[in-house]
Amino acid sequence: MSCDNRHPRSIRSFVRRAGRMTPGQKLALEKLWPRYGIEYREALADLPAGYAACKLEIGIGNGDALLAMAAADPDSLYLGVDVHEPGLGRCLNGIDAAVLGNVRLFRHDAVEVLRHMIAPASLDRVLLFFPDPWPKKRHHKRRIVNAAFRDLVHAALKPAGTFHVATDWQDYAEDIAAQLLADDRFENRGDADGFSPRPAYRPATRFERRGRRLGHGVWDLVFVRK
Ligand SMILES: C[S@@+](CC[C@H](N)C(=O)[O-])C[C@H]1O[C@@H](n2cnc3c(N)ncnc32)[C@H](O)[C@@H]1O
Repeated sequence: MSCDNRHPRSIRSFVRRAGRMTPGQKLALEKLWPRYGIEYREALADLPAGYAACKLEIGIGNGDALLAMAAADPDSLYLGVDVHEPGLGRCLNGIDAAVLGNVRLFRHDAVEVLRHMIAPASLDRVLLFFPDPWPKKRHHKRRIVNAAFRDLVHAALKPAGTFHVATDWQDYAEDIAAQLLADDRFENRGDADGFSPRPAYRPATRFERRGRRLGHGVWDLVFVRK
């Protein structure tokens, strides 16, 4: 069965929200996007060379985690993907303020970016922090982690590269753990249930703080591509 049959692209993991953009975010998209943004096209992305590693964060939100990881790890190239323009604008302002040369952004569906723009076996890490939980059962089909997505992540990772997910939704955490534990292309780096302690490189994110305020737990899953 092909990827497309298993995850018809009419079902996406996001809903485009108009979202209010501040004048500063709008200006950042106009002025800074040409420097740090990569336009979507169905061809491999032209990435800056010379980095020891390449790490991709999917669903960066306002980019706080991406910026913190990139600042702490200047030898790695950090790629961030999101569709939410105010967040991308905010992230661009953060890149500029911190003078981070090692960050590039995509504003497009991460599934399509993975499928068309990321070279096979080129990533050292794929990071997915607090993906939209789509808590209602009838919306579970919108959850980004599914068989087709696992295929794309597997193809993009280098052997021994890491797929790291964090979520504050227990049933989603359990579902992702079950998927990855059953997928013999990935090796679990966590406990028998598929959960790991939070790796030191993962900063707390806005959605994590929101989840904690609501009394949610947090689950990290760290799996390695065989
Ligand atoms: C719940 S928020 C989490 C944001 C951030 N990681 C955090 O923890 O604060 C999920 C983010 O993923 C983005 N997103 C969802 N599906 C996506 C997709 N297929 N491609 C790109 N971004 C996506 C949404 O726009 C949103 O910004």
